[in-house]
Amino acid sequence: QTVPGKQAIDTEPQYIDAPLTASAAFLVLVIKEDEQAMATARSVVASTDDLVKDVCIRASGGQFNCNVGISHRAWEPLTGKPLPKELRPFQEIKGSRHTAVATAGDLLYHIRAESFDLIVEFEKIVLEAFGDSVTVVDDVAGFRYFDGRDLLEFIDGTANPDGLDLPAATLVGSEDPAYAGGSYVVIQKYLHDLSAWRAETVETQEDIIGRTKFDNVEKPDATEGQKSHKTLCTIKDADGEHDILRDNMPFAVPGRGEYGTYFIGYSRHLWVTEKMLERMFIGDPPPLYDRILDFSTAVTGVTFFAPARQFLSDLAD
Ligand code: HEM
Repeated sequence: QTVPGKQAIDTEPQYIDAPLTASAAFLVLVIKEDEQAMATARSVVASTDDLVKDVCIRASGGQFNCNVGISHRAWEPLTGKPLPKELRPFQEIKGSRHTAVATAGDLLYHIRAESFDLIVEFEKIVLEAFGDSVTVVDDVAGFRYFDGRDLLEFIDGTANPDGLDLPAATLVGSEDPAYAGGSYVVIQKYLHDLSAWRAETVETQEDIIGRTKFDNVEKPDATEGQKSHKTLCTIKDADGEHDILRDNMPFAVPGRGEYGTYFIGYSRHLWVTEKMLERMFIGDPPPLYDRILDFSTAVTGVTFFAPARQFLSDLAD
């Protein structure tokens, strides 16, 4: 794959560029604090490729893939290698009204498939392999909602980079050669207040998001005053616009009144996603935070690094 600077990455990334699927799961684990648990976790993580193949072959041609991310806390004990340059824990952001909380997580399994049975099968196999070496801190099942909408009923993912912009925005390159082909991953689980959202007019909702609801057309960027979600998440500097790849999924347990968006952002530079979060929670200018937050509460926040595939399998040695 080619990234800016035109260098070729000669190691294969994980499935960062895989398309959105009908189903996805976000499994977040904490590794127990002892040598034996770390050794077990290391060998399971190293066997990811084989475990994916075990399930993939049963997918009869349908999509199935999984990306593994490792947190700052787990990086050195698990890999025995120096930290990727930008990897640091998720930084809590306290805005005037809303907080981006930082929560626990050593490993992330981002699993995508067209049908949910494969996801359940894979999680079952992986969790059996980990045994009691890990604690599950979160396991969220996401689903495709109509034409790729989130539960606020807007189409989510439109402005994602594609073509050559995709690896350029998501894969580390020559700036950190030991980790070329890897990607920074930030996750946040948001819970929506749907009755408050529905009480707003469609026009207000469109101003908050920055796109029209039915036909998904961009609205002009405000240059001053309250900015839309889309504008706050557009990061520009002298080098141009800095993109990330979002593979957000809706999730819900209607019987418990739980409706949410699982945000997941892959990026070549962690600072880009962090900057978006700062603009959303602190506001630009402060205190004009992202109004999407009045209807969406972040209940988790963790940062990971998803190294190249070979790096994961080499952990077996
Ligand atoms: C754009 C929804 C959280 C980054 C959008 C759009 C929607 C949306 C509907 C417009 C269509 C599109 O381009 O995808 C949501 C929801 C969220 C959420 C429901 C959680 C409650 C976040 C977070 C970040 C983020 C936490 C980054 C840290 C972006 C970016 C864009 C975007 C970069 C595209 C901006 C552009 O047009 O260039 N989001 N989002 N979003 N969002 Fe979010």
